[in-house]
Parts: sequence; C-alpha cells; structure tokens
Amino acid sequence: MNGVRELVQVELPTQFGEFQATAFEVHTGPVYLALAKGELVGGGAALTRLHSECLTGDALGSLRCECGVQLRLALRRIAAEGRGLLLYATGHEGRGVGLVNKLQAHVEQDDGADTVDANLRLGLPVDGRRYDAAAAVLHALGIGSVRLLTNNQDKVRGLREAGITVAGTEPLRTAAHSRNVGYLDTKERRLGHLETAGEELEPAPSPPPDAVRLLGDVDPPADRPYVVLKYAQTLDGRIATANGDSKWISGEEERAVSHALRAACDAVMVGVGTVLRDDPRLTVRLVPGASPLRVVLDSTLRTPSNALLLDGDPVTVVLTTDRATEGDRERLRETGAGIQVLPPGPGGVDLVAGLRVLRECGVRSLLVEGGARVITSLLSAGLVDRVVVGTAPKIIGAGTEAVGDLGVARVAEGIALRNRSVHLTADDIVTAWDVC
Ligand SMILES: NC(=O)c1ccc[n+]([C@@H]2O[C@H](COP(=O)([O-])OP(=O)(O)OC[C@H]3O[C@@H](n4cnc5c(N)ncnc54)[C@H](OP(=O)(O)O)[C@@H]3O)[C@@H](O)[C@H]2O)c1
Repeated sequence: MNGVRELVQVELPTQFGEFQATAFEVHTGPVYLALAKGELVGGGAALTRLHSECLTGDALGSLRCECGVQLRLALRRIAAEGRGLLLYATGHEGRGVGLVNKLQAHVEQDDGADTVDANLRLGLPVDGRRYDAAAAVLHALGIGSVRLLTNNQDKVRGLREAGITVAGTEPLRTAAHSRNVGYLDTKERRLGHLETAGEELEPAPSPPPDAVRLLGDVDPPADRPYVVLKYAQTLDGRIATANGDSKWISGEEERAVSHALRAACDAVMVGVGTVLRDDPRLTVRLVPGASPLRVVLDSTLRTPSNALLLDGDPVTVVLTTDRATEGDRERLRETGAGIQVLPPGPGGVDLVAGLRVLRECGVRSLLVEGGARVITSLLSAGLVDRVVVGTAPKIIGAGTEAVGDLGVARVAEGIALRNRSVHLTADDIVTAWDVC
C-alpha cells in the first residue's frame, strides 16, 4: 500500500514492556520500525511518537542532543498508557542529512555555529525530513488519527499534509544537559520547537525545571571540572539532624531541581559518609534526563558492595588511596565500579588529583551533593565554582552543618559569592551563586 511493504513482525520485549514490532520498507528506501502496544485500530487517536533515528543519541547516549532521553521517555509514556505506537524512522538521522553529515555538523558546532548554521555552512538542508512515508506506514497499520508526542510543529504539519489526523500533541520535555542546552535553545528559537527544556525558571513550580540556568556558565579550567556544590538545608543551616537523618529536608519539587541538575552535569560526587548514611542512587529519576557518571570519595573503601550506587547503570567510579586493601579494591571492581588509587590528602583523597583524573576522563561539569566533610574540604581547597542551596521551611536546631570550620576569623575573610539566581518551588527556595 502506498509504496509501503511489510517485511516482518515479531514480539519485542523491552525494559518498557512488550511491543509488537513490525518492520516496513518504504518506497524511498529506508526501513521504518513500528513498535505497537495494545489495539491501535479503532478506539480513538492513539498516543504516537514518530521518532527520527539518531544513532549517537539513541544508542550511544550522546549528550549533544536529547534524542535518547526522548526515545525512552516516549516508550515509557506509551507503556504507561498501555496503548500507543512508536514509529522509528531510520532515514531521518541528523534531521535527514545522514550520520556522517551530522558528525560534520557537530564539528562546525564546535567551531561556534549553532545547529542551523552548521548545516548551512556545509551546504546541507537545515531539516531534510519528509513525513509522507511515515504517514503511509501509519495508513498501512490502519491508523488515521494520532495524538503526537512531539515538541516539533513540522512533524504535525507534515503528517497532516500527508492525510493523518493529528488530534492533539503532547510535549516531550527533557531536562537539559550543560552540553546540549545551546542546541535545545536553537531548536526553540530558530526551528520553532516548543519548550524543549521545560519552563524557564520562574517562581512557579513546573517540572522539569530548566536547571541549567542554576549551573551558571560551565567553563572548566584545564586541570579540573567546573565544580557545583548542591545541598538542601533547613532554615537554620542544617543538612541533617544530630543523628544524621536528612530524608527529606526539602520538598519533592526541590528534589526535582536536584535531579535536573544531575541531568545537566557530566558527573555527580559524594563522600563515603553519605553512601553509608543515606545509600543514595544518585541517578536521575524525578525528571526525564540522562543519569551522570557517579563518583565516590572513599580513601579506605568502606563503600559496601550492595550500595545502591553500585547498581551498574550508569558507571560508578570510586576515588581511593593506597590505604584501601587489595581485597576491597577487588571486591568493588567485581561490582563493575572503576577504582582509581590516588595520593592521600587532607580529609581523605587528594582532591586536586581526584578532580584532575575526572577531567582527564572527560568530565567537564561535576555536581557535588555532599556531605558536610566533602563540602568543607572542597571549599577549603578553593575548588568550588558554584554553590546551589535549597533552603527548606524547617528549623531542627542542633544537627549537621553544611559547612564546617574554614578557619575564617573575620567576616571579611569569608568566601564571597556573587551572581545570585533564585528559584522558588512550592515549599523551598533555591539560590545559586558563583564563588568569587
Ligand atoms: N541535606 C543534604 O543535601 C545532604 C546531602 C548529602 C549528605 N547529607 C548528610 O550529610 C551526612 C554525611 O556527611 P559526612 O560529612 O559524614 O560524609 P561525606 O562528606 O559524604 O563523606 C565524608 C567522608 O568522605 C571521605 N573522603 C575522602 N576524601 C575526602 C576529602 N578529600 N574530603 C572529605 N572527605 C573525604 C572520608 O572518609 P574516608 O576517610 O573513609 O575516606 C570522609 O569521612 C549525612 O548525615 C547525610 O545525610 C545531607
């Protein structure tokens, strides 16, 4: 039908549940893969994602774009609804210009062009995608009406022109990463995509928050990542009670900001004290976004093998010293963690060496989520670029202070902060500052 040929059909179990996969060959050459859930013919417009192939984003987790996060978010939304279709368009790589041209456009972007000008410099179309083949596949599946999961109005227009009724659209907003925020901004400004990175930071709660603004200008020095300290404190400046309890100081929306900050950074780090007390996962769960590399400062490898942050995905790196036994190094390696043995320093692991190793691994932005000893060490060593603090409307009295002794005798000698930005959530106040 309409130059569309069904090639094969098979059940495809995925981490988002089971889909019926059907491969179609279209007259222009590429193969379209339809992943269907539930009965799609009759029963009203089905939730549908027309996903343009992006090998680097979808399969390799590239942070230059948001494609992989959108793909998984769409599958999750369809699975949650129990009925819908994901149509994967293999000819659409790089907005239709192909893989190699897309990589060449990345080079132009590294040279200062935005995603639109990069294509123009190379003599390529800004967007070479057509939607008639996708519409023909939808017709072949007996689907004439969809609710489209997209931020891209061109997809809506293209499907409508090809005879598909788009009964509505639902946005696929993802938390921006510091590496793709410029790309998302260009898509919004120059290509008419809608709110790709969620709402601007306004005093109105709306997930996912555009937390990249809280990060400031990610501009790492050559020998370490750009370091952002983030913690949640009570109004009287405590990050935990006297017996170490910190769950939860801030409300869910403030914690969503933390998750959006994780999604915006290359890596997230805590000290082993926080691992032992809180057993955090340090993944991105409260907003749609990619989880960063996880890092633990642990000079004698006290991290237990069953710690949640050793669950294997994403990778965890433990920075340690030669005070850790060979047996403990092996024990943690067996969990899949990377072990880096570094010189000792004040407080445990030498921070300058640790940050250099992370930078050499490609970490440009590092979010540090505590606890108190690690926060204090980093501030004492002058290794912090940005501080983001969520302040909750609670007073708990004696407890764990976020920042310990910095040897400051006079107020004038304190660490000065500038470039304040403020974000209000339903209950809490998030303030962010550059460290002078
Ligand atoms: N409210 C929040 O936002 C928040 C966030 C996180 C944690 N917390 C709370 O903070 C408390 C944990 O804080 P904490 O101070 O005990 O633990 P921590 O700062 O998470 O970890 C400190 C440990 O990390 C190791 N370490 C290695 N290198 C270090 C270095 N250069 N500087 C500092 N530490 C280094 C040291 O152990 P070794 O000597 O064994 O290497 C040190 O004892 C818990 O109560 C937790 O709930 C609150």
